[in-house]
Order: sequence, then C-alpha cells, then structure tokens
Amino acid sequence: MTRYHGAYAEWRQDPEGFWTEAAKAIDWDVPPAQILATAEAPSGRWFEGAQCNTCYNCVDRHVRAGHGARAAIRYDSPVTGTKDVYSYDRLLAEVSALASVLRARGVGRGDRVLIYMPMVPEALVAMLASARLGAVHSVVFGGFSAEELALRIDDAKPAAIVSASCGIEPARIVAYKPLLDAALDRAAHDVPHCLILQRERQRCDLLAGRDEDYATVVGAALAAGETTDCVPVAATDPLYILYTSGTTGRPKGVVRDNGGHMVALRWSMEHHYGLEPGETFWAASDVGWVVGHSYICYGPLLHGCATVLYEGKPTGTPDAGAFWRVIAEHEVAALFTAPTALRAIRKVDPDGLAIAPHDLSGFRTLFLAGERSDATTVAWAREKLGRPVVDHWWQTETGWPMTGNPVGLGLLPVRPGAAGVPMPGYDIRVLDDAGSEVPPGTLGNIVCKLPLPPAGFTGLWGAKERYHETYFAEFPGYYATSDAGFRDAEGYVHIMARTDDVINVAGHRLSTGSIEEAISSHPDVAECAVVGRADDLKGQVPLGFVVLKDGVARDAATLGRELVALVRDRVGPVAAFRETLCVTRLPKTRSGKILRGTMQKLADGEEVRVPPALEEPQILDEIRSALRAHLDKPAHA
Ligand code: COA
Ligand code: AMP
Repeated sequence: MTRYHGAYAEWRQDPEGFWTEAAKAIDWDVPPAQILATAEAPSGRWFEGAQCNTCYNCVDRHVRAGHGARAAIRYDSPVTGTKDVYSYDRLLAEVSALASVLRARGVGRGDRVLIYMPMVPEALVAMLASARLGAVHSVVFGGFSAEELALRIDDAKPAAIVSASCGIEPARIVAYKPLLDAALDRAAHDVPHCLILQRERQRCDLLAGRDEDYATVVGAALAAGETTDCVPVAATDPLYILYTSGTTGRPKGVVRDNGGHMVALRWSMEHHYGLEPGETFWAASDVGWVVGHSYICYGPLLHGCATVLYEGKPTGTPDAGAFWRVIAEHEVAALFTAPTALRAIRKVDPDGLAIAPHDLSGFRTLFLAGERSDATTVAWAREKLGRPVVDHWWQTETGWPMTGNPVGLGLLPVRPGAAGVPMPGYDIRVLDDAGSEVPPGTLGNIVCKLPLPPAGFTGLWGAKERYHETYFAEFPGYYATSDAGFRDAEGYVHIMARTDDVINVAGHRLSTGSIEEAISSHPDVAECAVVGRADDLKGQVPLGFVVLKDGVARDAATLGRELVALVRDRVGPVAAFRETLCVTRLPKTRSGKILRGTMQKLADGEEVRVPPALEEPQILDEIRSALRAHLDKPAHA
C-alpha cells in the first residue's frame, strides 16, 4: 500500500506543518520559527529568520555522527581509466582546505564563485567549499562556448573561478582553459583569482598573477592542516545561481536558497527516490545542469548517501554495458537518467545483452526525467531490467520533482506516458489561455498554484522584472511552467511540449533564441528561425530556416558548414546544431511574428491547419517542399 495519498492530503491540510516536520531532518544554527513568508517573492520564502549551512548538512554532520568512513563520492571515469572513492572524512578535509584557499583570496559570504569544470570530484568539492563559506556558486556546463561563459561571468560577477585544463569527450579533448581565457578577455568583469585543476590528458598555461594551480594550493592547505568552519547563513540566502535557457538568447540566472533547498531535497531522497542513508544513488547527468546540482551533489549528500560521479557516456565508453557495469560495481540502488541515454543504449544493444554479465541485484528503480519519456523506451527498459521505470517531471526553477511516483512512500501504478502525480508541495493545475481550469484529458498550460514548495527558485539573479514577467504575470496566483500537457482522470500529469521557444536536445534545455542570434550574425543571413525537429535519439534537434540577404547566392553546403561553426563558437557544441535549410521567406503573422510552432509541425510531418493570422498562406507550401528536399537527402533517408 502506498502512503502517497495520505502524505499529499497531510500537506494540503497543513502545508506549513508538513514542511516544519520535514525541516527537522536538517541541522540548523538557528532553527526556523517562521515557516513561510510570501511578501517578497511570489514563489515564497521558506524558513525566513532561520540560519544554517548547506555544506555542514552535506558533509560535517555525517562525520560528526560517526559516518566519516562511509563513501560520499564514487568517481568512475572510463574516459581517463580512473576510479576513486571519497569518504565523508576525505571530502570534509578537501572541502575545508579549498574553502581556506578561497577565503584567503577574499571570498566570503555572498560572493560568487564560478565553477567551470568537467565531471571530476573537484567540481563537487568546489560547490561544497563555496557553500561552506556562505558564498554563491554558479556552475557552467562545459559544452557551452566562451561567449556563453562570458555572459555568465558578467552577470554573476564572480570573485573567483575554479576550472580545469580540459574536459574529456570520447572523441576529443575539450580544452577548457582557452575557452575560459577567451571568456575572461571578452567579459567586462575582472576576475582576480582562478584556480585551475591541471589534468594529465592536457595541461595548460597559467597566467601569472591570476591563475593558480589547484592541486598546489589545495595540497599546501591540506599539508598545513588548514581548515575553515562553516559560515552560518540565512536560510533564504542564495546557495547558487544556475543559468538556464529562456525564450530570448539571454540566459536566466535561477537563484536557489539554502534552507528550503535542503529541506525539500532531503525529503525527496527518502520519500520520492526511496533511498536509505549509506546507499548509493546515481544521477547520470552533468554537474552543469540542475539534475547534477540536486541529485549528483546535494540530495544524496544531504541524505548521507554515496553519489556516483560518472565521467563517461551511455555508449562508447567503452560500450553499451557501461551503465550496467557502474550500477553493479558501485552497488547503485537507484539510477536517474534521461530517456535519450536509454535510447542511445537500446540503439546499440537492442536485446539488452550487455545487461546480463552484471549483478544488478541491489538495483531497485530507474528514474527518468529531463524530456518526455517515449513509451517504447520505457517498455524496453522495464522488460530488460525487470525493475520499475519511473518518469518524473521538474525544471531548473523548481529544483526537485513537481510530479513523480514516490517510491519511498510506496510505488503507485506506473502509467505509460504520464510523468506521475503531483508531489506534496505542488498544487498542479491545467489552464486554458484565458486562465480557466480545463477538464481532465484536455490539453492546456500547466501551472502550479503559489507558493512553490521549499527549493523553488526565489528569483532570477539581477532580473526582478523578468522574473515576475516570465513566471507570474500570465496566470496571476500561479507559477507558469511553460510546459503544456493534461491531467488524466486518475490525476496523473502528462507533459507534452513547451509553450515557449525552448527546445530539448538530448535532455539539454536550449533556447532557440540564442541559436538564432548566432545564425543572424552571419553576414549573408537576412533572417532566420530555429525550431526543434523530432529526432529518434535526441528527442529534438535544432533545424535552422535561413533567408539570405537580397542578391546573395551561396552554396548551401558551404553556408551550412559556416553556420554550424558559428553556432558552435557562439553557443557551444551542446546546441548540436547541424541542419540548415535555405528558404526565400519565413511564415509570419500580419504583425510580423514568425510562426515557429507551425514550422515545427511541418518539420515533424504533422498535419497543419493554416493559421488565420498567416499573411500569405502559400508560403507553407514553399516550406513543405524545402523540407521534403532537405529530409530526402541521404543523411535523413
Ligand atoms: N563538455 C564539453 N563538450 C560537451 C560536454 C561537456 N560536458 N557534453 C557534451 N559535449 C559536446 C559533445 O562532445 C558533442 O560535441 P560534438 O558535436 O563535437 O560531438 C556536443 O556537445 C553534443 O553533445 P550531446 O548532445 O550530449 O551528444 P553526444 O552525441 O555527445 O551524446 C547522448 C548523446 C544521448 C549519449 C548524450 O547526450 C547523453 O548521454 N545524454 C544524457 C542526457 C543528460 O545527461 N541530460 C541532463 C539532464 S538529465
Ligand atoms: P531543465 O530546466 O533543464 O531541467 O528542463 C526542464 C524542462 O525539461 C521542462 O520544462 C520540460 O519541458 C522538460 N522535462 C523535464 N522532465 C520531463 C518529463 N519527465 N517529461 C517531459 N518533459 C520533461
């Protein structure tokens, strides 16, 4: 029997009582007296007046409770052939030493620390050291360009940067340091201190006066026995800024607090993911995404679990059995990944033959999120693994699942196509464009009645108006998720599509606006529109429709290569931009709005009704025939 219905009803009846109880699992310097304040942020401010330290709760308290010898980080890096285990004792020593180093360079409470790292333990150490000092970290994903990095540097204005010489992708080494140098050259903000982790695969030059060798300075602090106490901060103080894609090319700096974040994440580890302290949890994501923040770093450590830090891919490092090997070797109790990773595995190993050699007896649940789960992939995983496969839905803004299937409270029936039921804390509604609720089964805008539960974002860094405009203006009293979907008769939530110009490529959230900005900067391009075309492996891939300037004639293949290079340079390889389609004009409304949704449907071969606002309906036929010619090319046949 599941305890979900009771827990949800308990929360509905007394939300503050529910979170007061959950907050008891956290160690506070000043315990919460006030639970919820809604005056300042419409999304809610939890535990105002309380004081705490996130690093203390993730590391120190487990050591003080006598669990110092337990594994905290299980690093597994097939791309370098390295494995390492950090006990909680070792993690405390390293975090404390790095915190001393940063403090000696002037980093203190409220200062920003930018972290631009591959999937190495030092990335987690840096996040925790920042939290220890009461500073605010901002982790930037390695697949972004120098330009995107510069945007984030200028927005967050960090006092220090922790980075590495390189990241290692299966087919190439990604030299991080030149990207960092280029970003720092481009940025208006000056960063006085950069700590650089030299990796053996490719070392880098250090700039005298600014750059220091991470291992040398942290090693010296460790040898000298330097430690740093945790700095108590207000529960409502920011723990981190994580930039995410929105409608425009300018990224949004989602701000997360300390207190509410800890309370919700710890609750979710026990009740949603069903983990016990001491067990191993693996989120196969990247520290640069919210999944990496919440469930590679903070969630598992807050709960006293071991977290797997995997520097590799689902396939090719070295084969499609990599995930199953890691689960067996590190005794993983639950894995969290994106459906695209499973599609990549199934493509190479459709019969699941690579599973059999591994002992998965300790493995209980596979969790999927990041993009819509397709029924075929879910059915394949369930059959081959013989374990529940649980879809759940959340966003950078919420920090933890809005809907899911709470294994810890007792699994509910799994409904294919649905992303589960609302978690306690979330009152999920589906509204039509006028703001009225629609009946079950009807597609609409998915919103969450305010306030958001603990861990919900408390703002956008330096962008108060944008925060209000983007999330709370359209449906007063609700947080607008920008996802469309429906609730079924049993109350399960089905997530179908984004309602804005965000696309989801291999589980990565990308702004079509930023790709369009890059394409538009090409001297031959008059205008362009980027849409997400359905893709069997990545879910969606960007497709660029390009109109050339009058009188310009270009060889399509050459222009395509130039635009790919431009997008890689301006946005980064993570955009996975490869396809350009030259057209003579774009479909627009009379007021000049480009009909991207219509173009996307055409690209996916869907039936399209001519939108009444379309100025010249025959343009759709032109787009159709251009698409046909494009998709008939050998690469798509
Ligand atoms: N640093 C630098 N470059 C990176 C990077 C990183 N951390 N991560 C990806 N890239 C690069 C890749 O090397 C690739 O470059 P290329 O065009 O030169 O080959 C490009 O960005 C696109 O990467 P990706 O979309 O990940 O494609 P892929 O072919 O390398 O891998 C999958 C495809 C499906 C295996 C992979 O995307 C995956 O495992 N996805 C899981 C999804 C996930 O982690 N989602 C996070 C939310 S849960
Ligand atoms: P991010 O903020 O990068 O985590 O991306 C959040 C977006 O990913 C959501 O708004 C959805 O569009 C999509 N998403 C995440 N999880 C799911 C899911 N389980 N099903 C469908 N879409 C999802």
